[in-house]
Amino acid sequence: MTPSDPISPSVSPPAGPPGLLVAFEGVDGSGKSTQLRRLSARLAAAKIPHTVTKEPGATPLGKKLREILLDPALPASALAQLFLFQADRAQHRQEVLSPALDRGGIVLSDRLSDATMAYQAFGFGLSRELVATLTRVALDGLRPDLTVLLDLPVEALEGRLSARAEGRTRFERLGRDYFDRVRRGYLEIARVHADRTLFLDATLPPDLLEKQIDAELARRFPGRFGR
Ligand code: TYD
Repeated sequence: MTPSDPISPSVSPPAGPPGLLVAFEGVDGSGKSTQLRRLSARLAAAKIPHTVTKEPGATPLGKKLREILLDPALPASALAQLFLFQADRAQHRQEVLSPALDRGGIVLSDRLSDATMAYQAFGFGLSRELVATLTRVALDGLRPDLTVLLDLPVEALEGRLSARAEGRTRFERLGRDYFDRVRRGYLEIARVHADRTLFLDATLPPDLLEKQIDAELARRFPGRFGR
């Protein structure tokens, strides 16, 4: 990637706060929320304190923005969505992420910045530069220490989403081509940010995925997760 490519890693990322930020990413129905919940339960059983959070909707403002963002009956252009997701993120960083990370805490987030690059830039075709710039501003330069990406081919996704056909959100209604672009976006982000991505095959059994996540966390952060 060229240095000006907005999804390429910067040459020397600035030192972040003392905590550890782990994001779970993937298309809708990839099982990332299940894996996040399972990891949280394992950490709780091992008495390892941590914060569980998500985007959009982790703060009082975010909950209102989430209602707007997911409402399939409310017209919202891709650009309008982008600003709303970034507003949610700015508040999320200020109220939840920075306080926990500044205390040195472990934070597990169900989606974070890669979702906007995948859904709004790759999915809807918005400028990657614009998405990257707004994300940098909203997160004040914060980035995940590790992103767990659950990759699911679009054929497998259709089966999982049709099971949730009732009450589908704005995004779940978008169809096969859209999700294929989003998935490809995630694959590209994972390729460029291989240093901070754990790439997982979401069609594998959940118990096996759980073991892969544990092994990676223990390998990368032995002081925090190692046994
Ligand atoms: P949610 O119900 O949280 O979906 P999931 O359980 O799959 O995480 O809805 C969040 C939706 O918002 C999801 O379809 C992805 C989409 N989204 C974006 O399009 N851009 C973003 O930046 C974020 C954070 C989410």
